[in-house]
Amino acid sequence: MNRRWHTAALAALIAAGTLIAPQAVAKDDGLALTPPMGFNNWNTTHCRDDFNEEMVKGIADIFVSKGLKDAGYEYVNIDDCWALPERDANGDLVPHPVRFPNGIKHVADYVHAKGLKFGIYTSAGTKTCNNQGGFPGGLGHEEQDAKLFASWGVDYLKYDNCNNQGVDAKQRYTKMRDALEATGRKIVFSICEWGQNKPWEWAKDVGHLWRTTGDISDNWNSMVSIAKRNMELADHAGPGHWNDPDMLEVGNGGMTDLEYRSHFSLWSIMAAPLLIGADLRKVTPATFEILQNREIIAVNQDKLGVQGRVVRNQGGNHVLVKPLSNGDKAILLFNENDSAANISVTAQELGLTRASGYKVRDLWAKTTSHTAGSISAALPPHGSAMFRVSAAKDWYNYPPAITTAADGDVLYPGALPIVQPGKTITYTTSVSNTGRLPIAAVQAALTVPHGWTAKATSSSFKPILSGEKTFRTTWQVTVPATAAPGRFPISASFTFHSPHENNPVTRQYSTEALVPGAPPKGELFISDLKWLRAANGHGPVEVDTTNGEAKQGDGGPITIRGKVFAKGLGTHAPAHIEYYTGGSCSKVTATIGIDDKKVNPLSLVSYEVWADNTKVYDSGPVSGADAAKSLEANVSSATVVRLIVRDGGNGKSYDHADWGDVRISC
Ligand code: GLA
Repeated sequence: MNRRWHTAALAALIAAGTLIAPQAVAKDDGLALTPPMGFNNWNTTHCRDDFNEEMVKGIADIFVSKGLKDAGYEYVNIDDCWALPERDANGDLVPHPVRFPNGIKHVADYVHAKGLKFGIYTSAGTKTCNNQGGFPGGLGHEEQDAKLFASWGVDYLKYDNCNNQGVDAKQRYTKMRDALEATGRKIVFSICEWGQNKPWEWAKDVGHLWRTTGDISDNWNSMVSIAKRNMELADHAGPGHWNDPDMLEVGNGGMTDLEYRSHFSLWSIMAAPLLIGADLRKVTPATFEILQNREIIAVNQDKLGVQGRVVRNQGGNHVLVKPLSNGDKAILLFNENDSAANISVTAQELGLTRASGYKVRDLWAKTTSHTAGSISAALPPHGSAMFRVSAAKDWYNYPPAITTAADGDVLYPGALPIVQPGKTITYTTSVSNTGRLPIAAVQAALTVPHGWTAKATSSSFKPILSGEKTFRTTWQVTVPATAAPGRFPISASFTFHSPHENNPVTRQYSTEALVPGAPPKGELFISDLKWLRAANGHGPVEVDTTNGEAKQGDGGPITIRGKVFAKGLGTHAPAHIEYYTGGSCSKVTATIGIDDKKVNPLSLVSYEVWADNTKVYDSGPVSGADAAKSLEANVSSATVVRLIVRDGGNGKSYDHADWGDVRISC
């Protein structure tokens, strides 16, 4: 219970039925009424030497010169490694003399002079986290450290969880909250205990934000798994108390710009703190463009302060909605998977009703259109689309929303379109008008690589495409017999007249076709073949070693119940590996089980083998206690063999699934 509330006032509220049960109430200090925005050096520098005064000043300069400050970014925060390993004779923390030769106050003053705010870091433990030994933490020194920070002009404290000596988390974080409040300075308090003690249940009046997960790293799997965990906690966030899925990786180089757009969209719709984690002195213009998308920032910073909720998640096709203070709804359509996807949602599902049409602002394309009720997007792998939908009466002043797509025939849902040299594959292009008004003179075209042919086998022209209708064309795409293996671009374009445009509109949609190499021959270890695609729940799939952790090549020998395998695959649920077999293989055999090094009560998976769209092997539940299993699967006539590991239903922790000696007979 917030100490500042008078018991009598609270009792009156309960009596009046305003409050059903006394719950933790958010801090009422007026801080972090919208999610904090700013910078933190950790994701880009860790404890490297380039984390220093010059960097912090450089970031503050760029915040001003490049317009980030105007866009709302405010806090310039420093993380671990700013201090020396020992306190001084007075017991005070000492700034690292090489990194910060002029002290911390000097840097804070510099940041303040730019009209920005300054943040610092320590741990609710005896030492901070960095593996070079850390510097002394705040546990038992709360008041002294808080006073020192306040005297330097600190506006934000990130309080970590390492070396906490087993002291109760609520007690540790409350102690520092009280110490910060006692300084009289307004300091945003960021709880960083990685979601271990469910801070969303008790920390509303302790901190302004709390981490909900372990550390993010600069790769797709890490970002997505953190986002999915954070999505579940939407009910707990609000003004002054935010779920924190960790700092942004946008611009650090481990993901594509398309993936960073998804990352930024997810964090924005989840009302997550937007703390830039890249060295802005070195990033590309595309990074600035993502971080400075003001319409998306406006969704994040909306004063209603509601975290976007999951409307649905169908196998990694996510729809999230965030209500906004003016009655609009922000929506995110997000494709987690490696294959293209059409995702849609209706205005009704968003809770918007009683309008004959809706205005739809595409927050990445920066276009406005209208819809009769359905909002959809054809998304590439890992892509997303973000919209602001409103029940505005003037919807008919905007052109109808049009979605375009081109899909090749596939062997199973989500597969890559595969075509052998000299053969033909069918593509279907589509133009969907989700508006109320018609579009006219719709012409579809398909562009294929040089030497290939594309022939429409149904009409590619539609004089009028009414609202809420889709126009499809089928195409036979023929690949020359001499085509080399590879992934080739297939690009569809659509031109049409829209009621609100003077000139014809053109839309493009890019996809691809995969030309496989020769099918494998003989008795082979599958790990010697090149896969078509591989996805893994934690780090990459490893060849001939175990999965290890998040980094490539960090596994050890594949070992199942004491038996070591020189060949095989190291995976972690959920995993999915596809091999081209071209109908010429008959059998897959392997020894499967949880890796000896990672056996844990939480290890629970199942293994499957698929021949195209048919499941030909299912191990049933496999736990760390089970003996190694022999797998044999009949894959005759399969064009693609798929090896799959599923999480056993208890979450994906410790699901390090080994495939020993996977052999294929072709
Ligand atoms: C922990 C935190 C990170 C970072 C490091 C610094 O891992 O979760 O965000 O602050 O410590 O050592």
